[in-house]
Amino acid sequence: MTTDAAAILGAGGDSREARGGGRGGEARAISVVSAAHFVQHFQSLVLPPLFPFLKATLGIGFVELGFALTVASITAVAAQLPVGFLVDKVGSRLMLVLGLALSAAAGHSVTTIEGLSADRQHPLQQAWIDEQVPQCGYCQSGMIMAAAALLAAIKRPSDADIDNAVTNICRCGTYARVRNAIHAAVART
Ligand code: FES
Repeated sequence: MTTDAAAILGAGGDSREARGGGRGGEARAISVVSAAHFVQHFQSLVLPPLFPFLKATLGIGFVELGFALTVASITAVAAQLPVGFLVDKVGSRLMLVLGLALSAAAGHSVTTIEGLSADRQHPLQQAWIDEQVPQCGYCQSGMIMAAAALLAAIKRPSDADIDNAVTNICRCGTYARVRNAIHAAVART
């Protein structure tokens, strides 16, 4: 029986009985931890086949869905060890309150290339096509999103602004075309 399992049940006493009532309490704690663990892994298996339905229902793309699942998985893996350590140290109730507070504060959104426009008609996407920017294409989603962030901050960026803001690496060397496409997108708006 680990102390974090007892903590999940909300018991903070020193004795085994206080932590959950001896072997009965341990069994309940192990059941709760096992159920939570099962749910966590089950959703990782169940969600990808549901992506086509989620895509239509939520109105977002496969890239965004995959990104969300990846972030959730990485966060779960990265947070398990330190959070387990903190639960043992400060107790489960405080950690639960902190977790809820962090969730409430995390109202930030992430936009991917599929969120830029529903029909690929965004001025940047059109300019990218007109200027034939992509070569292998590997870096181009990131290039366009960096350009979109730049234009959100500076309406008519100079070459220096572009060089400072769009620092993505392109192994095909499309930097000059990227610059031209950004200026072309500005001219379209
Ligand atoms: S277009 Fe090939 S890496 Fe940028």
